[in-house]
Amino acid sequence: TNQFATTICCIGAGYVGGPTCSIIADKCHDVLVYIVDIDQTRIDQWNSDKLPIYEPGLDDIVKRRRGLNLFFTTDVDTAINKSDIIFVSVNTPTKKSGIGAGMAADLKYIESATRRLAQVAQSSKIVVEKSTVPCKTAESMRAILESNSKPGLRFDILSNPEFLAEGTAIQDLLNPDRVLIGSLQTPEGKKAQATLADLYARWVPREKIITMNLWSSELSKLAANAMLAQRISSVNALSALCEATGADIDEVAYAVGKDTRIGSKFLKASVGFGGSCFQKDILNLVYLCESLNLHEAADYWRQVITINEYQKKRFIQRIVKSLFNTVTNKSIAILGFAFKKNTGDTRESAAISLIKYLIEEQAQVHIYDPKVEEEQIFFDLIEPGVYSNENQVLHKVKKLVKVHKDAYSATLNTDALVVCTEWDEFTNLDYQKIYNQMRKPAFVFDGRLILNSDKLRKIGFNVEVIGKVA
Ligand code: NAD
Ligand code: UGA
Repeated sequence: TNQFATTICCIGAGYVGGPTCSIIADKCHDVLVYIVDIDQTRIDQWNSDKLPIYEPGLDDIVKRRRGLNLFFTTDVDTAINKSDIIFVSVNTPTKKSGIGAGMAADLKYIESATRRLAQVAQSSKIVVEKSTVPCKTAESMRAILESNSKPGLRFDILSNPEFLAEGTAIQDLLNPDRVLIGSLQTPEGKKAQATLADLYARWVPREKIITMNLWSSELSKLAANAMLAQRISSVNALSALCEATGADIDEVAYAVGKDTRIGSKFLKASVGFGGSCFQKDILNLVYLCESLNLHEAADYWRQVITINEYQKKRFIQRIVKSLFNTVTNKSIAILGFAFKKNTGDTRESAAISLIKYLIEEQAQVHIYDPKVEEEQIFFDLIEPGVYSNENQVLHKVKKLVKVHKDAYSATLNTDALVVCTEWDEFTNLDYQKIYNQMRKPAFVFDGRLILNSDKLRKIGFNVEVIGKVA
């Protein structure tokens, strides 16, 4: 490794670890980057032609640097030992059982990665907490490292939360609004902070690299996600009011967003936010507030999730009501299964709860998504390991759900089509052709406000749009 100035190891080859550290490899050819994971399948995919995640621009970067200064491996220990800087980008899902179940972040993956690091490290390291974690997690990591490592080694822990959004990860990483680095305000902490800042400064302007104390940095990540999600819940709560009054949510959001103090981004009404993080991070914040006896603050943030659930339920109710109060035996096309466009990620996608409801009601469901694999769709609908009567669930789902290769095949002979994800290609479909091959009356439910409803109505569709009255 002599030819390299620095070696880094990223633990966790997921949606965050993969793209962030591939960018480092691409921007710094003198830095050797190991991205490691315990999941052999995932590592094999990173080393193949078909990467485990779809993210515009990612393939080119990985193919450009793989084998030169970018390596994907399950040999965690060797990679740790060769590295000066260790990024921890493991998953931190909501706990499913035990204390804080359904709310608190499950830190078992952080802890096992940290213990492994302590056990195998032969030299001092800078440890970068990249995963989203509750405030004060760095303190637990330090305790584990200090009490389990070889004598004489130093571990400086930094908080460096990631703000990328899926679908735009590469652009977000190349041109971030800010890079945040928190550290202990000791000379050693500040030195480690400066080392990481120098790495980012290879492509990020210095004024965008913000340094602060560890706890502020950890909390800022939860705060940013909570405030982003809160904007969506605010606009979705207003969409209910629009449907009841005849106001139009796109017009209201436009007018409100023109105020530069509010701004126009993240004000798009929808079928509800999904994704692996918003709900989990808000629950995490709520749990933190509750555990510090800040109950009013907890209630405030909890409401963001309550409104999101309300929005999903409202949309389902509107579909059922429009379809003459029954969907049983009706045939319904679902356009989009990913939680947003330009990603194949389905975690917490609003489409999942909608389709599960339709299955409960014995509707026939025809799904098309440009990037989500059939296997993933069935996995999400069946949730292996959750039900004791798994075979029955599988049988029922397989009987009612069909996954299609394009939107025309998915909508053939259906009573309704529902837009769940805002994929660009859905706006350019030949809706006359789709109308001709659907049962009548034909319904369109636009859960993303992306279709031209006037045009669709002229064709003959009954159109229902979130936040608008027909
Ligand atoms: P992910 O599930 O896609 O990836 C995490 C990976 O870590 C998995 O492949 C898993 O096998 C691996 N892992 C778990 N324990 C390990 C261990 N001990 N050693 C080696 N590998 C291990 O998760 P993600 O979406 O990349 O999210 C990671 C973190 O980043 C989370 O805390 C999340 O909140 C945060 N985050 C995610 C996003 C996003 O857009 N997905 C954005 C910003 C922040
Ligand atoms: C979000 C944040 O935007 C990132 O900054 C953050 O790093 C990331 O979470 C994380 O911590 O994981 P992501 O979930 O990938 O990123 O995608 P978003 O663009 O935020 O969309 C989240 C959900 O909100 C999607 O379902 C999207 O369709 C929905 N949304 C978004 C709306 O309904 N309306 C909007 O105006 C914007």
